Amino acid sequence: MATVQLSNICKSYGDKKTVHDINLTIEDREFMVMVGPSGCGKSTTLRMIAGLEDITTGQLLIDGKDVTDAPPQKRDIAMVFQSYALYPHMTAYRNMAFGLMKTTRLSKAEIDTRIREAAEILSITDLLNRRPKELSGGERQRVAIGRALVRKPKVFLFDEPLSNLDAKLRNRMRAELKRLHQELDLTVIYVTHDQIEAMTLGTRVAMLSQGALQQVGAPMDIYMHPTNTFVATFIGSPEMALIPCRAENGKVGHAFFTNSLSIGNNLPADVMVGLRPEEVTLSSTGMARARVERVELIGAEALVEVAFGPDRMVVKCPVLGAPSVGDEVGLDFDLDRLRLFNGRTGQAINAEA
Ligand SMILES: Nc1ncnc2c1ncn2[C@@H]1O[C@H](COP(=O)(O)OP(=O)(O)O)[C@@H](O)[C@H]1O
Ligand SMILES: [Mg+2]
Repeated sequence: MATVQLSNICKSYGDKKTVHDINLTIEDREFMVMVGPSGCGKSTTLRMIAGLEDITTGQLLIDGKDVTDAPPQKRDIAMVFQSYALYPHMTAYRNMAFGLMKTTRLSKAEIDTRIREAAEILSITDLLNRRPKELSGGERQRVAIGRALVRKPKVFLFDEPLSNLDAKLRNRMRAELKRLHQELDLTVIYVTHDQIEAMTLGTRVAMLSQGALQQVGAPMDIYMHPTNTFVATFIGSPEMALIPCRAENGKVGHAFFTNSLSIGNNLPADVMVGLRPEEVTLSSTGMARARVERVELIGAEALVEVAFGPDRMVVKCPVLGAPSVGDEVGLDFDLDRLRLFNGRTGQAINAEA
């Protein structure tokens, strides 16, 4: 297995810069998830790592070796695509064997052993003689993963491999990918627009927006300490509420706060208070007053959308005792967990108490 190092990687199409100065090191046996909205440059970055796309400027090292200009076959990586990209006229077995026959000097028997091993791991032994059209979406995806596994590459690249599967199958494949990573000690770079996939699969998550890296860290670290409002609202569902407030003399005020909150010194005048749905509790008194606009029952919990003045937020509470639309409620929040962002730049503020 291997490390992958991206140093100041940029990509331009004509004079349009698509990927900006990415610096990122993927450690040996790490499951790195690159996550961001559609069009933010995830596939472009992955394709540059694979060698399917030229690197405009910057340097790419795999296992310490400069492969910036190396062709794909010299990089010892395997990529799994959203579209599976299987050969339609070949059986699953042949799809898995084909690349090995082309690019290695393995004997037929060695190739067969590898395919049987991978098929066993992926529970597709019984499907090896079928063609792609005789397989379900999930089975095709397994064959595509199998084709990558048999090559025993240094690094596995996945580009939204689960996006074409239904929700139930996606959950199952997600668990299976996690197991594969753990059992086989793979180094994985995995691209998705789905923040749940990022949170559940990644040993670390790299968050991208408009071609630029926003934050890199362990999933819970990013969840708890987002570096800016973009990351704050992208990760987590329902999303974090951002409430514009005025700060003065270390206190943060809002017309609907019962008292202004003593938070810290050296705050800019315009700040945003960031609160996640599970960090706010409803109470009869409360630190702020709000009106219930919408109530959604989602099993044991209710999502209660409340408005205070022009601002809204979603609060999670137990279904039992959930308020009704139109109720006036109080809101309490944990001042220790409250996040502050610069109202102008959106950057997180570490207030000094
Ligand atoms: N071959 C290309 N020529 C010009 N622009 C491209 C090309 N490929 C991708 N882009 C643009 O680069 C941006 C990033 O695309 P992409 O990496 O596919 O995003 P993502 O995978 O995050 O959805 C998009 O604006 C896309 O239109
Ligand atoms: Mg893409």
